[in-house]
Amino acid sequence: MKSWNELRQLREAAAKEIALRNPDAQAVPGEPRLHVLVCAGTGCTSSSSQLIMEQMNEQLCSRGLDQQIRVIKTGCFGLCQKGPIVAVYPDKIFYCHVKPEDVTEIIEQHFIGGQPVKRLEMNDIDELTQEKNL
Ligand code: FES
Repeated sequence: MKSWNELRQLREAAAKEIALRNPDAQAVPGEPRLHVLVCAGTGCTSSSSQLIMEQMNEQLCSRGLDQQIRVIKTGCFGLCQKGPIVAVYPDKIFYCHVKPEDVTEIIEQHFIGGQPVKRLEMNDIDELTQEKNL
């Protein structure tokens, strides 16, 4: 990087890339409608998060949904005891203790059917705001 202009361009490209994860995000035509963040930290990896990601990608491809739903490998969310963690934006759904055998249900019920899989949702509620901690 050699100039402020390059840095600004890099920043603008990154901001566009993660815009779907902003609080007021709306799906943009031609762009993925969902970002699925799969934790690849040490704890989640030891609990099969790599296999979860592979199965998610394979099933999305075979269903022709890979252009609409983007699976993204992330670092540790800091919630290792609840892993593997899978977060879905802009829905703000945070799944915990996900297993590879849950992938089909998440895709069919949530990504296609629009109904999050309640049994996997982390439901930590902030006592002050009564909002979900994400
Ligand atoms: S390793 Fe996944 S939350 Fe820490």
